[in-house]
Amino acid sequence: MPRLVFERTGFAVDYPDGVSVAEACDRDIRAGVPFSCRHANCGICRLEVTEGMDLCEPRTEWEDELLTYLKERPSVRLGCQLRIAAGGGVVRLRVI
Ligand code: FES
Repeated sequence: MPRLVFERTGFAVDYPDGVSVAEACDRDIRAGVPFSCRHANCGICRLEVTEGMDLCEPRTEWEDELLTYLKERPSVRLGCQLRIAAGGGVVRLRVI
């Protein structure tokens, strides 16, 4: 089970299998990630993956379309779309 670390708040949690990062954030406000549309439209949930990108599932089509439009770096993901692969390791996320 990967461990998620949210750099802004210092909150860390073991990422439950089968849920999205958004769902994991909803379970504890200490994650500190803002959400709005939850459909890859607004970009408010942008996160920089500072460690563990290899544990992140690839961008969805909609996520890639918005992040490309916003000219974001490959290390940036949408919290509402991001899913983490099963397994061990640490994923560090920074709200941008
Ligand atoms: S909440 Fe709008 S893009 Fe993620």
